[in-house]
Formats: sequence, C-alpha cells, structure tokens
Amino acid sequence: MVKINACVFISGKGSNLKNLIIKSREYNFPIKISLVISNNKEAEGIKHAIRNYIPYLILNTKKRNSDYKILNALKKYKITLICLAGYMKIISKNFLRSFKKNIINIHPSLLPKFKGLNTYKKILIKKEKKTGCTVHFVNEQLDSGQIITQKSFFIENNDNEETLKDKTQQLERFAFPEAIIKIYKYS
Ligand code: GRF
Repeated sequence: MVKINACVFISGKGSNLKNLIIKSREYNFPIKISLVISNNKEAEGIKHAIRNYIPYLILNTKKRNSDYKILNALKKYKITLICLAGYMKIISKNFLRSFKKNIINIHPSLLPKFKGLNTYKKILIKKEKKTGCTVHFVNEQLDSGQIITQKSFFIENNDNEETLKDKTQQLERFAFPEAIIKIYKYS
C-alpha cells in the first residue's frame, strides 16, 4: 500500500504521536509518519521520533522565518497531511494559504464547545454531563474547522481535571487514527 507522508506537530508529551507511530506500522493504515516538528526543544515527545528513526525538526516559532523553514521541510519530505497533536501554537493564515493540503487537529472537548485552552477546567465549571475529544480540519478560526470524528463519555461526580484528562486522552488514542482512516477511505 502506498502511504501518505504525514508530519506530526507537537509541543509536549507526544502520546498521540506515539500512538500514531504505532498505528502507522499497520499495513492498511493510510499514513506514514515521515517527519515530526516541535516548537519546544524540551518536548518529551521528540524521544518518540528519535527512538523510531523519524526525522524531526525543532524550531523557535517566535523567529520570523520559522514558517518558511517548516514549509521547506514539508516539501522535502513530500508531506501531504499535517496532524497537530498538542501543538501549542496557532497556525498562521499565511501558513494555511501556503500549505494547501490537509491539516487536522485533535482537541480535548466536544467541539464547538470549549475551544481554546484550559478545557478541563471550563468543562467542570460549566458542570457538563458529557465530554470527549474531537478531530477536525484546521481552518483560519481557532478550533472551528469541519469535524471529522468525535468520541465522548459521561462525566462522573468525582471527576476532576486530572481524571477528565486521562479519560479524554484514552479516547484520543482511538479518535485520531479513526479520523485519518475516514479522510483517506474513499481516495
Ligand atoms: C491532547 O490531549 C490534545 O487533545 C491536546 O493536547 C494534548 C496533547 O497530548 N490538543 P500529547 O502531547 O499527545 O500527549
């Protein structure tokens, strides 16, 4: 099977990256992780790229030419899908216009609810009954692009930010691969 070259953008732990690397080894999974990009040189997730011999790039995205450097790397590795997995930087409009292929993001809420940061705290304050995660296409508005997949669970009385995070991230392991399969199923 000819696989799509994907790049995973991270800023932290990289548990979604780790999971996607494992999934991508399955014969029928449509993508290969060909590049990892981090805007944080301390990101724990970089170790998954190193251990799996995946090329990686660490960039200071505060520098003016960082978008240019990223776009060059994406071109070099023939990337046609970007997966944002805990990437703590907003993708600029210029970047979106230059990279005309798919960009998807995983967000720890049932969008359109609770966009942006501090999701778990906001969910608890609002006394939601249900929460989950969403994989969506990235557009020019924050956490607002077309939804590809959502997975949800019921919140229990004794849940706190930590337990919500654990439960949400367990669902993310299924949601991200499922969304990728959906995108490429009929192409
Ligand atoms: C995930 O929970 C994702 O929803 C959010 O950031 C977290 C990243 O976790 N956008 P990890 O770096 O993949 O472990």
